[in-house]
Amino acid sequence: MSLQPTKIIGAVLAVAVVAFAIDFVSNQIFAKQELKVPGYVVEVTEPVAEAAPAGPAPEASSTAAAAPAVETPPAAEAAPAEVTAAPTATEPAPTADASAPAAVAAAPAAAPAAADGGSIADRLKTADVAAGEKSAKVCTACHSFADSGANKVGPGLWEVVNRKPGTHPGFKYSPAMVTFGESHVWDYATLDIYLTNPKTEVPGNKMAFAGVKKPEDRANIIAYLRSLSASPAPLP
Ligand code: HEC
Repeated sequence: MSLQPTKIIGAVLAVAVVAFAIDFVSNQIFAKQELKVPGYVVEVTEPVAEAAPAGPAPEASSTAAAAPAVETPPAAEAAPAEVTAAPTATEPAPTADASAPAAVAAAPAAAPAAADGGSIADRLKTADVAAGEKSAKVCTACHSFADSGANKVGPGLWEVVNRKPGTHPGFKYSPAMVTFGESHVWDYATLDIYLTNPKTEVPGNKMAFAGVKKPEDRANIIAYLRSLSASPAPLP
């Protein structure tokens, strides 16, 4: 049999048609599906050593990777932000059955302060401002304590005691923090709970910090925060 050009072209075309047909049919059978939500969510519940030095942190998103004291890899960082519906869920619901669920929702937030190392009011009596200033070094990766109120990765913390959360001028807060501010103030107890575990107290807020686990350390830091004021708030 002779290989005439038309036969060769015919064979090539036939192969092309068959290949196209197979591709078409397989696309019909194995339809591609885009994921609507990521297949996994990385969650770090038990953060690593809180005392580890936090390196200088240029950006909130990159600090998670840069500083060991600082929680979670960037993936986890992004995840809670997407579920910003969550924070509202933990707030007392303004809907039906009002009193009962509201009481239940408020309970877990209030509990740790009392259960964990005595009340903040008691711990503040023996708190050490100088020790607090030392412990608060980790915060300076993201916060300025200066009376200029300058913002860094986080908002300036001068005069933070008794401030309304999410309201420091010039800082772009997460929606979660702004919402939190609608029903809270940074009094001693609220600071104590927040600094124990920022992510639990204000879900979806963007402070990528694991928290200060030791009750005395928190009291010292809060005593130091109190001192950052022209006229410090009265002790409880
Ligand atoms: C990795 C950076 C980072 C570190 C470390 C960090 N913070 Fe923050 N902090 C933030 C960011 C970002 C916000 C704003 C959160 C938001 O808008 O959701 C914030 C918010 C706050 C707020 C709320 C302020 C306001 O105006 O409502 C307080 C209080 C606070 N931080 C205290 C501390 C203390 C005390 C420490 C150290 C023990 C600390 N932070 C460590 C990044 C950090």
